[in-house]
Amino acid sequence: MTGIGQKFYQSTKYHGQRRPDTATAPAELKTISLPAAVGPADKSFAELLAARRSRRKFAGEGISLEHLAYLLWASDGVSAPDKPTIFHTAPSAGARHPIVTYVVANRVDGIESGVYRYDAEGHSLRMLREGDFEKEAARAAADQDWMVGSAVVFVWTAVFERTTSKYKDRGYRYVFLDAGHICQNLYLACESLGLGMTSIAALVDDDVNSIVGADGVDESVVYMAALGRPADK
Ligand SMILES: Cc1cc2nc3c(=O)[nH]c(=O)nc-3n(C[C@H](O)[C@H](O)[C@H](O)COP(=O)(O)O)c2cc1C
Repeated sequence: MTGIGQKFYQSTKYHGQRRPDTATAPAELKTISLPAAVGPADKSFAELLAARRSRRKFAGEGISLEHLAYLLWASDGVSAPDKPTIFHTAPSAGARHPIVTYVVANRVDGIESGVYRYDAEGHSLRMLREGDFEKEAARAAADQDWMVGSAVVFVWTAVFERTTSKYKDRGYRYVFLDAGHICQNLYLACESLGLGMTSIAALVDDDVNSIVGADGVDESVVYMAALGRPADK
């Protein structure tokens, strides 16, 4: 472990009692091309801002693959693929884009339950693990049982080197700021689709890492979110 940034990151991890099934850097099982992301246009931006809330009560219903594709693109998809520097919907210090989006699909129509990594440049999902990880994700988020019933859990990891290679230890600050931008995009995109969501930072870092196959040092979780059709709509 070198540098004050990595020491800070490791020293502020939560540690749990349990070791869930570990999966280190799982091989990709298959690629799912996503539909073009087209969002609804019936609410003004000011209305979305005013309506945004953290919502934790889910109906236990699925969402469509089209909606998931929109949420992935809106949160941190590529908005300008044809420029020399690739630009995303979320800003990133130095355009380094250290954040990787994984989804734990619990209830998404048309795709199997499992763990997927979002390829923003290809706008596709790479399946990493097939199976039901709904309860394991809630346990890894420090036993936040309200997550059970969600359609999708987003897991954002950081590949620190992408940012620290340019900014050294100061880059650790930027990585967390980048994640915040992405998460707020997701909050507003959910609101626009009538979905409920809550962001999650109370998590047992290495339990979450083991779900997505991150090593906890070079790549490690920084933030999560659970979303779905709200129970009260
Ligand atoms: C960095 C951060 C971490 C959070 N972590 C959690 C969490 O682990 N569990 C949870 O239920 N809510 C979490 N929240 C949601 C906050 O509790 C919520 O934003 C706050 O109560 C304000 O409510 P609002 O989002 O509806 O405005 C988190 C929010 C932020 C910004």
